[in-house]
Amino acid sequence: MEKIAIIGAMSCEIDEIKKCLTDLKEISYQDLKTFTGNINDKFIILAQSGMGKVNAAINTQYIIDTFHPDTIINTGVAGGLGKGLKIGDIVIAEYLVQHDFDVTFLGYAKGYMFLGEDRKSPTKYLCDEKLLKTFEDLLNKKMTETKYYKGVIASGDIFVSDKKQKEEINKTFNAIAVEMEGAAVAQTAVRNKIPFLVIRAISDMADGTEGEYRMNLEDIAKLAANSVKNFISIENFTVD
Ligand code: ADE
Repeated sequence: MEKIAIIGAMSCEIDEIKKCLTDLKEISYQDLKTFTGNINDKFIILAQSGMGKVNAAINTQYIIDTFHPDTIINTGVAGGLGKGLKIGDIVIAEYLVQHDFDVTFLGYAKGYMFLGEDRKSPTKYLCDEKLLKTFEDLLNKKMTETKYYKGVIASGDIFVSDKKQKEEINKTFNAIAVEMEGAAVAQTAVRNKIPFLVIRAISDMADGTEGEYRMNLEDIAKLAANSVKNFISIENFTVD
């Protein structure tokens, strides 16, 4: 049976998926909240990692060591950086970068993490091509009203709420969205040679517009989770 791990930072980012799990079990380990169950003929490991890159990395490694998933999906909300993006759009990462990893003083590019030959470029964590294609095909077929964008997602331990900072991340990394966990899940998945995908929905425009994020959080988190749920429910979902 295919094993799929789905990781979200907050409960509202995983609740819609939890509702659909049959044979639901809760596993408590330290302060990690993990649920297991089935959707169709797939075994799902659903985790609430907490916010930020360290929480996400710890949680991802725990899930890998304990459940040995075939695929990892990170989902939740994100701030929009790209032109044309609107609240409620779905964003799929082609690759992820860590926008707050900064050893520029030593002559490296912003986001360079001592991985790869080219120290003048940020380290990129590439999503699985086949998973990306399958997800895109599904969006093209099913979700006609929801717009989706594919591009770079930048992660960092900062809630971006400032126009200048937003523009800087967009320009430096060519990033279309910003969030706080995706690249850490990605880095851990890459280390363990497990294919992964990051699927987010835009909850705010990362520019400090008062109240926008809080107002949209629940609904937009649901949107992202539902698209993940539809994705893992399709028959041809496989990573081979
Ligand atoms: N997740 C959702 N919106 C965000 C933002 N503006 N910055 C960082 N993470 C986010």
